[in-house]
Amino acid sequence: MAKPIYIVGGSKGGVGKSVTSIGLIDTLKENSEDILLIESDTSNPDVWKMYKDEVKTELINLDDANGWIDLVNICDKHPDYVVVVNTAARNNKGVTAYGETLNKTVAEMKRKLVTLWIINRQRDSLELLKEYMEALPESIIHVIRNGYFGDEQKFELYNGSKTKKTVEDAGGKSLTFPDLADRVSDDLYSKRLSIDAAMKELPIGNRAELTRWRNEVRKVLGAAINA
Ligand SMILES: Nc1ncnc2c1ncn2[C@@H]1O[C@H](COP(=O)(O)OP(=O)(O)OP(=O)(O)O)[C@@H](O)[C@H]1O
Ligand SMILES: [Mg+2]
Repeated sequence: MAKPIYIVGGSKGGVGKSVTSIGLIDTLKENSEDILLIESDTSNPDVWKMYKDEVKTELINLDDANGWIDLVNICDKHPDYVVVVNTAARNNKGVTAYGETLNKTVAEMKRKLVTLWIINRQRDSLELLKEYMEALPESIIHVIRNGYFGDEQKFELYNGSKTKKTVEDAGGKSLTFPDLADRVSDDLYSKRLSIDAAMKELPIGNRAELTRWRNEVRKVLGAAINA
């Protein structure tokens, strides 16, 4: 079996896709995996800027057919690399139009396709998830409640939804991603720091908060990686 492909999605802008991709890359690095980051947010490639010196990367626009062909070809060429795809806002348009290109080829590539679907507390996160599931039925989906928007119990719409049942009946998990103190996430974003780089550069208090968060992230995402 080749290494898995992780798509970090959610389609909504600002929902926490990039910060989850960062946490996922960090967790995979800790597990000594070789990582191939596909940055598909070509207009604001924040994760790419943070990780381009630490992992193998490609910038691919997934809004058109060519991007999806490139994605599949690159995945096929690197079976020993865990692939992490950081998606852009409104990515569902491309997934609906061209996701079939990946959906139809994962089995032949002998790769597991896993989606981490990031949600906030609003209903459209769930509507978009339904759309995504129809477009990429081969993917295992774990839903990530982003703790930045509140505690787990505040995600009432998802917690009481049929979608949650559908996700979990298919073997997916419902997870809660930890909130990182604003001043430290601002450090990462404004200075374009990877977590490892921030662990060298930031003051001791900021590093302590980053360590706390990173350990939480590893626990939460470890559950998805090892599912
Ligand atoms: N778990 C979190 N802990 C701390 N800050 C967070 C968290 N989630 C989101 N944020 C904040 O919200 C902002 C948006 O998050 P992020 O960039 O990950 O969203 P996105 O879904 O990738 O957005 P876009 O659609 O613009 O790519 C971040 O700059 C960060 O400040
Ligand atoms: Mg982003």
